[in-house]
Order: sequence, then structure tokens, then C-alpha cells
Amino acid sequence: MAKRAVVTGWGKCVPPTTLTNADLERLCDTNDQWIIERTGIQSRRISHVEGTDLAELAARRALACAGLQATDLDLIIVATCTPELLCPSVATMLQDRLGATEAAAFDLNAACSGFIYSTANVTGMIESGFAERVLVVGVEKLHVAMDYRDRATSILFGDGAGAVVYEATDSGAGVLSVDLGADGSKGGTMVVRAMGTRGDPYWGKPPEETRLHFEGQAVFKIAVQGIAASATRALERAGLDADEVDLVIPHQANARIIDSATRKLGIEPGRVFVNIENLGNTAAASIPIAIADAADAGRLEPGDMVVLTAFGGGITWGSVVMRWGDRVQPVGVHEGELEPTDATIWDLLESNLEFYAPLHADEPPVN
Ligand SMILES: CC(C)(COP(=O)(O)OP(=O)(O)OC[C@H]1O[C@@H](n2cnc3c(N)ncnc32)[C@H](O)[C@@H]1OP(=O)(O)O)[C@@H](O)C(=O)NCCC(=O)NCCS
Repeated sequence: MAKRAVVTGWGKCVPPTTLTNADLERLCDTNDQWIIERTGIQSRRISHVEGTDLAELAARRALACAGLQATDLDLIIVATCTPELLCPSVATMLQDRLGATEAAAFDLNAACSGFIYSTANVTGMIESGFAERVLVVGVEKLHVAMDYRDRATSILFGDGAGAVVYEATDSGAGVLSVDLGADGSKGGTMVVRAMGTRGDPYWGKPPEETRLHFEGQAVFKIAVQGIAASATRALERAGLDADEVDLVIPHQANARIIDSATRKLGIEPGRVFVNIENLGNTAAASIPIAIADAADAGRLEPGDMVVLTAFGGGITWGSVVMRWGDRVQPVGVHEGELEPTDATIWDLLESNLEFYAPLHADEPPVN
């Protein structure tokens, strides 16, 4: 039987400090009830470390889960639109930290669709025989691009990392089909002009270019249509109907987008995994974090038919249909933790608020 890419390990690393809806009420004209009703989000995480630190811990956890050493890897792909540096890539920094001396490594930017695009790459490389064991990490330190006094964007996004190990198998499990697409003509709906998040990411960059420009309503409509259409094409390619799907693990953009898109697909909420409540939208990290949470929560059984689907800046979209393999319990556990912090959310946001303050000079001061 032909080789396929199957998930054999998963892990996540979310920073401990939370930004709650109550905190946001102190920063802009919003309220807890509105945010919960319109997005399903109660809090998001703000990182006190670099994104590469989050990626490293998620990767070590996924490797332990798969029972692999870093030297077993042939390839590392990091999906991110907020890399710590543009060059060298996060993937090569990670390769060095892990000691994955046999692995090729590169970053991939397809915004929130990055994990799906990465999985498509892995599928091709495993099916062609180029790679046998691949680590994919989705990581974002999005808070750098958030102007927390802009209620249109600040309520949605958070930091985090998720990692998945794919291995070649001829068991019949693994990725069955992929759908990818892009429409650059609509790229203006989500734009970050300046980036590179290491250290003091604001130095030398103007605030109006650093903050996320975002057309929420336009994105909402495109996302609902795009996710439903893409997942439908992937299911057709796999020769499956929606009623044969055991679990959809969608990009966690907004609980209402997920609900509308999966209803269009004919899949009821009980077969959809949602963990947006305490993480917000973590862009490329959201699907691998959700895979780890779903696996750890016992939502994945051997042989389950799983759909991953995402939509993001670019604009880009993609879906993957996979038959889950035998691994539903981790082989091992990595015990490491992030360096602890006693910084409050206000400590972590201090330089951010100061940086974006000129854009709010005519508004009342923060509460
Ligand atoms: C941003 C988003 C949550 C806004 O939700 P929405 O239901 O479209 O809300 P609207 O923009 O229609 O605004 C509705 C009302 O709430 C107000 N409002 C907007 N943001 C608000 C906020 N944060 N708090 C309180 N009120 C808010 C608006 O001013 C408007 O008031 P009005 O009716 O008096 O004019 C939603 O459009 C969205 O999630 N878009 C896609 C997001 C996304 O995840 N993109 C990335 C994809 S990877």
C-alpha cells in the first residue's frame, strides 16, 4: 500500500498569562457579554517569552508523545506569520535547539492556514519518499501586532504554539486528501506591514504599520463560505460524505464562524472540536493546539475520520481529510516547562500600549 502521513505525536505550549475580557474592558469600548456572544472568547494568552521558546516546548512534547528523538526527524516545518526573526527561520533555530541534525527545516507563512499548508507539504514529501518523520509546529506571538485599544482586533487574537509529528505509514491510516487555495486579490482584508518579534519588536517601526489592519465583517463572510467549500472539496476527493466524519478540528477564528461553516457542511456541533474560549485565535498555532487538546481529551479514536480546515490572511484556505492512526495515548511525556514569570498582564503589555498610544491621542486615557 502507498505511504501516507499519519499523526503519531502532538504537543502544545501556551504561555500562562491571560488577557481577559474584563482586562479589555479597561482598554477599549467593549464588554464581556458582546465578546462572548460574537466570538466565544473569554480570554487569550500573552507570551512573556519569544515564539521560538513556545515552539521548542511544544515540539519537545510532541516528540515525547511520538516516542521519537529529535535525530529521527527528516524535516521540520514551522508555520507562522509572526516569526521571531525573518532569517534565520524559526524552523532552523528550532532544529538547532532540538539537535535535529538530520532534519531539513523551513518556515511557511500562510497565516491562519499555515498548519494546513504545512500538512499538505508533509503529505507530498512522505508520499514521494523524501521524508519519513516530520515535525510541524504552528506558533504565533500575535500580541505584538495588536493595538489593544482597537476593539476590532484586540478581542480576537492570542499567543501559543502547537506541534504535531507525522510519520510514514502503509497501514491505511493517514492523510487521504488535501484542498488548498488562495485569493491574493482579497489580501487587503488582513494586513501586517512590519514584523519580526524578537526583543523589543517596536523599535524603529511606526505604529500604524505594525498593528494589524483588519476588515472583520468581510473576513467573516469569506471565512464561512471558504471553509465550507474547501472542506467539501477535500471530502469529495477522499470519496466521503459529511456523515462519515467523526470530528472536525477547525481553525479557531471565531466560534460563530466555526458554527456557521460546519452547519453549512451538515456537521452538527457534537462532531466539531472548539477550544477558542480560553485561547482566542492563535492563527497558525490554532489547529495543532486543538489537535493536542482533542487527543488529550479523548476525542480521537483509532480509525476516526478527521477533517482539519482553515482560513486566513493572504487570503488563503485549506482542508485535510485524514484517518486517525492507532496512537491515542502518548508514548512518553516531556516534563520541561517554560521559564516561570511573575509579570502581570499589564507588565507584559506596557511597551505595547506605549507604542500604540499615539494612535489614540484624542481618546480618553486607559482606565
Ligand atoms: C470582528 C468580529 C468579531 C466582529 O463581529 P461582528 O458580528 O461582525 O460585529 P460588527 O462588526 O457587525 O459590529 C456589530 C456592532 O458591534 C459593535 N462592535 C464591534 N466591535 C465591538 C467590540 N469589540 N465590542 C463591542 N462592540 C463592538 C459595532 O460597532 C457594531 O455596532 P453598531 O451595530 O451599533 O454599528 C467578526 O467580524 C469576526 O470575527 N470576523 C472574522 C474574524 C477572524 O477571525 N478573522 C481571522 C480569520 S483567520
